[in-house]
Amino acid sequence: MLVVSISGSPSTRSRSGVVLKHAAQWLADHGVDVKAVRIQDFNAEDLLYARFDSPEVTAFIDAVAKADGLLIGTPVYKASFSGALKTLLDLLPERSLHGKVVLPLATGGSIAHMLAVDYALKPVLSALKCQEVLHGVFAIDSQISYGDNDLGGDLDELLTQRLQDGLEHFHLGLQHRTNARHKEAGGHLKLAL
Ligand SMILES: Cc1cc2nc3c(=O)[nH]c(=O)nc-3n(C[C@H](O)[C@H](O)[C@H](O)COP(=O)(O)O)c2cc1C
Repeated sequence: MLVVSISGSPSTRSRSGVVLKHAAQWLADHGVDVKAVRIQDFNAEDLLYARFDSPEVTAFIDAVAKADGLLIGTPVYKASFSGALKTLLDLLPERSLHGKVVLPLATGGSIAHMLAVDYALKPVLSALKCQEVLHGVFAIDSQISYGDNDLGGDLDELLTQRLQDGLEHFHLGLQHRTNARHKEAGGHLKLAL
């Protein structure tokens, strides 16, 4: 099983990035391959000028095509997800998320905009034909502390529990998708014989 983890924060030191790293570690511990992509790894001009043919962008599109699921992490900016993340999602072909499972992870300064994923990010994922966007995990800054560990910091107990619940659903969704794909491949093989 392959998951592409996308960090949509433009900040080098990123709280949503810490949540994503914890999520990626949990998935790796459960046998999932995780390919981590950060918005900062892209050339800003490729994103701003929508260069669909840039090597980094085509590699990203290929990775998404191969993935069973996506973890999408973003800070809340002005009551929405980050604009930088939008510039990247805009470069994905229209049906890119068809058949994939997506778990959104968002962080904000307060709970005032905890629904930003629902009203802002989900319509974009739906335009990319994602049929399985899971109930995401929203965290406020005070639940995440920076630290020197491998994951860049720690999460409080409540967030750790909510993240684990979200990841368990995500893992189940990935397993269903993998089983369905194997069944489909078996059916094609039978037809070919
Ligand atoms: C430009 C900017 C706009 C922000 N707008 C909001 C907002 O509308 N609502 C909110 O709850 N937090 C807002 N915040 C706070 C961030 O969402 C919050 O600190 C988040 O955890 C940052 O994530 P990051 O460290 O991964 O970039 C804003 C922060 C910045 C820098």
